[in-house]
Amino acid sequence: MEKIVIRGGKPLNGSVVISGMKNAALGIIFGCLLVKDKITLEDLPMISDVKLSLEILRRMGAEVAENADGSVVIDCTNAVGGISPCDLVKKMRASYYLLGAELGRFGRAKVGRSGGCDFGTRPIDQHIKGFEALGGVVTLSDDYIRIEAENGIRGSELFFDVITVGGTINMLLAAVLAEGTTVIENAAKEPHIVDVANFLNTCGAVITGAGTDTIKIKGVKELHGCTYAIVPDMIEAGTYMIAAAATRGCLRIENVIPKHLESITAKLVEMGVSVDEFDDAIVVSAPDPLRHINLKTLPYPGYPTDMQPQICALLSISEGTSHLIEGVIENRFRYVEELRRLGASIEVNGKTATINGVSGLHGARVRAVDLRAGAAMVIAGLASDGVTEIEDIHHIERGYNDIVGKLKKVGADIEKVEIQTL
Ligand code: EPU
Repeated sequence: MEKIVIRGGKPLNGSVVISGMKNAALGIIFGCLLVKDKITLEDLPMISDVKLSLEILRRMGAEVAENADGSVVIDCTNAVGGISPCDLVKKMRASYYLLGAELGRFGRAKVGRSGGCDFGTRPIDQHIKGFEALGGVVTLSDDYIRIEAENGIRGSELFFDVITVGGTINMLLAAVLAEGTTVIENAAKEPHIVDVANFLNTCGAVITGAGTDTIKIKGVKELHGCTYAIVPDMIEAGTYMIAAAATRGCLRIENVIPKHLESITAKLVEMGVSVDEFDDAIVVSAPDPLRHINLKTLPYPGYPTDMQPQICALLSISEGTSHLIEGVIENRFRYVEELRRLGASIEVNGKTATINGVSGLHGARVRAVDLRAGAAMVIAGLASDGVTEIEDIHHIERGYNDIVGKLKKVGADIEKVEIQTL
């Protein structure tokens, strides 16, 4: 087991290059199951969730090979449904995409319960509503979810009761090979939805409207192979934007789509951070002190819940009192206790955190309680005086490609160290 050790207080300066987006990559990897042909994926972030997803497909009979240039070739021609390995499936949330992908390819699915970050209950009732609308009969047991569509998958109209990223992607996967047209209303609009739809369209699917709240999927008979490059990760980019601001440094963040970052940029500018946009890069620098703000997380194009812990870390060292409302996920403040260990002054009441800015944080031993919480610990550690040790970093490694290497290159004193056990 390893931990991250940071000697804080050093401003980040230089350039950092953003990797492909985790939450697009995961939908696309499981989407490969729908294609009986070779797919070459470029800009796949080699994070642990991606490696796990590739291993799940391999165990289902897919051929997966890495090229010398880092691209990955996936061929699911001989893949078999209903046999995904439970031990791996339960380690990640996105393995629920196997439900949509198996249903789309085989007309039935049997998949173990998925895992992922612990945010309280994370229902999938909307996914189930979608599968049923397409003609699937869903059976739930403690260990498995089974879907049977005896008369085949048929296009249908569906209105999601809540905006769901996973539910929208699962419907895309389940419906692309259906007979007839499927219409999803109140669909999620995140850039990763658009990227999964673009990938499927490159394979021959006919999907329109992705990125709006109405998506139409005209079923096709089969999909074909392609080469596809994953979109840059807006959450990784946002995390480096906040790390630059928290250390009062100046970072050029490359391989980004500035439009995807607008809600993050807007809140940082409101705090006094300077953000300059270029075609595929942004430059972020910050004066001292930064100002307090109020913020509520929302589905895209609102401020992302996956950037909530990181901005909380920044607000904890900004002047005045900020109010942060979590508007998407049931329980996403478990990390606050860890930030308090570093000297932050934060009270949580239900879905609202009240943050009283302090003049500085101090190093301590903390845990990454989930993926983005871990990113917040890294940011806080970089901005703290003294040494911060972060444990449970496997959460961070699920979603950030070489975070230690990238931060080192821009001046952070950060390393991964083996935890000594007696
Ligand atoms: N919801 C329901 N019923 C459903 C589905 C969702 O009530 O059937 C609720 C959830 O409980 C939650 C809200 O709707 O309160 C949004 O959930 P959503 O389905 O959009 O989230 P998800 O698909 O489980 C994905 C990302 C998360 C990200 C959320 C929100 C993946 C693999 N995960 O989760 O990413 O926080 O969307 O944007 O794409 C992360 O990357 O750190 C991460 C947690």
